[in-house]
Amino acid sequence: MSRPFYVTTPIYYVNDVPHLGTAYTTIVADALRRYHGLRGRETFMLTGTDEHGLKLEREAVSRGLSPKAFVDDMSARFRAAWPKMSVEADHFIRTTDPEHERLVQEVWKRVEQNGDLYLGSYEDWYCVGCESFKTEKELLAGNECPLHPGRGAEKVREETYFFKLASYADRLLNYYDAHPSFIEPESRRNEVISFVKGGLHDLSVSRASFSWGIPVPGNDKHVMYVWFDALANYWTALGGFGSDAERKYWAPNAEVVHLVGKDILRFHTVYWPAFLMSAGMPLPSKVFAHGFLTIDGQKMSKSLRNAVDPVRLAETPELAGADGLRYQLLRAVAFGQDGDFDHAAMVERYNADLGKNLGNLLSRTLGLCSKLTAGKAPAFDPGALPADIDRAFLRDRLELAGQVPQYWESLAPHLALEHTLRLASRANKYVDEAAPWAAAKAGNQPAIDAALGLLLEALKTLSELLWPAMPTKANELRKQLGLGPLSATVGADAWTMHNTRIDPLPGGHALAPSGALFPTIDKEREAELLSRLMPASTAPAALAPAAGGIPGHPSAIADSVAPAISYDDFAKVELKVGVVKTAEKVPKKDKLLKLTVDVGEPEPRTVIAGLALTFAPDALVGQRVIVVANLAPRDFGKGLVSHGMLLATGPSEKLVLATAPDSAEPGARLK
Ligand code: MSP
Repeated sequence: MSRPFYVTTPIYYVNDVPHLGTAYTTIVADALRRYHGLRGRETFMLTGTDEHGLKLEREAVSRGLSPKAFVDDMSARFRAAWPKMSVEADHFIRTTDPEHERLVQEVWKRVEQNGDLYLGSYEDWYCVGCESFKTEKELLAGNECPLHPGRGAEKVREETYFFKLASYADRLLNYYDAHPSFIEPESRRNEVISFVKGGLHDLSVSRASFSWGIPVPGNDKHVMYVWFDALANYWTALGGFGSDAERKYWAPNAEVVHLVGKDILRFHTVYWPAFLMSAGMPLPSKVFAHGFLTIDGQKMSKSLRNAVDPVRLAETPELAGADGLRYQLLRAVAFGQDGDFDHAAMVERYNADLGKNLGNLLSRTLGLCSKLTAGKAPAFDPGALPADIDRAFLRDRLELAGQVPQYWESLAPHLALEHTLRLASRANKYVDEAAPWAAAKAGNQPAIDAALGLLLEALKTLSELLWPAMPTKANELRKQLGLGPLSATVGADAWTMHNTRIDPLPGGHALAPSGALFPTIDKEREAELLSRLMPASTAPAALAPAAGGIPGHPSAIADSVAPAISYDDFAKVELKVGVVKTAEKVPKKDKLLKLTVDVGEPEPRTVIAGLALTFAPDALVGQRVIVVANLAPRDFGKGLVSHGMLLATGPSEKLVLATAPDSAEPGARLK
């Protein structure tokens, strides 16, 4: 049996909520876990949250919360989101878990004992968005980080522990050379190799100017650099040196695969292996970097990605719920490359692949069985098929199903699914070729039995091939075939036979049809669905909500009739009374005003509002307004971050502000 399989996602910063980008990696990890589990391997999947560092400390402060209260709340949102997408991680790690903190300190001590840390002082740029030091070479004009334009890197001057990264360059290059599949895809591997060949600098791995981090052992003036702490999670999650899980799931005993986005490749392929080498610990088997998703062709800005909520998509039964979302993400984008998540294409793909191809194959086959074989699987002999078309279909079924595993193995879920669906198309073609209804007219029972027997077997195989991507629908399909649900069983490979022989349902086995597995969506419902799901900023004009509210906010007040929401949905929105304290124009932005608004917190909040075409700044000072207080902060660039939104109605030049009477206290909640 193959080695156990250990797959990880990055641990997500909790200054954000789960979005399509983070859902993407997490769903791929879960699909891989399921695939390898179905092949009989022992599997372990890890995800979690990254909770230390300056970015989170500042975010908590800006919300008037303690860092711990803030991260507790945000981490819980990630933990609750993944099961809604049928992700069943074996462990959810938080970097504030005491056990993680203790074990990271162990790793630190090993690195220190190896002589790889020294105290020095640092003076250079730091991008809080990346939580990463930057050389001047890496910054744009005005010391802007290319990944976080508008925020400006900060000059840091402080005492720090350095890790002797420069001395690891040769060892890293030798390692990449000896392990060609350590970094994938190939283009990313080349990128990392040329980065390391360009020369490495020692890395600052502690900070002394803030305290939201894991204390450095023996010097509590310092906290560890957030990436030292974060990267170690992949190992601390297993329970530390010599624990059962560590012995089973860490390299070299297991195949350890880290899935990461291309933006965090260097941390995983340069820093992390160097830390491990220094601590005398084995390296993971593979770091696979995927590309970036755009939404309907647009870059995922913070406001846009928050407008496309993966949980909401997973809760859309019309598109097959969690399984539909999983299918779309896995199938639409070539893993490893940048790709687009296009809402209209999503409906089209649902209809074509799932409704008209797979779903249709199931209903046709079961419909024919209920007419021609009394709703039971027919008995037939695959070794003595009556016609050439039957033998040709059998050959193709073996070949197509046999091709699927190699794509899962090589982390190409989009190709695995493409080939899976090819089997469904081939089977649909075979229904037409075999025409069991014509055989029935001719009284040719052996032809009917062979065709329906082969088709039922193909459907059973399809349920197995689909299960890693669509576990719920695969099991529903099986239920209609009268079969029990699939689950991973250690040591039992559900797929070994797919390319060598078939395993038909026994003759007389009772089938259990129960309606369309993937009801198709007609044009009218498609338009309604798209207007519900697409953020206003990406919807074509005909679907976008009518103009109104605060320009630039996709969630602004629309004149159109919105679908009903539950009371619980409404209760999630925190509307508060605020008093405008200051207001000023934003240079070079005609529509925007920068306000500070007292919402009953220790400090007034900054709110950037599209009010300037209607109001002179002075006219707003002292106004009692209604503030959406728990809206995720929105970055307008150039250091302008809005912490809330005001309610208003009307076109941009004639806005009417929603206000509260003088008797309402700042901070009072509207309910
Ligand atoms: N906390 C670090 C990771 C530490 S791992 C030891 C971090 N967190 S993050 O929340 O900012 O990002 C997590 C992942 O989301 C990254 O892999 C990043 O590539 C991914 N994505 C963010 N936006 C994305 C898209 N638009 N598309 C696809 N993935 C994207 O970095």
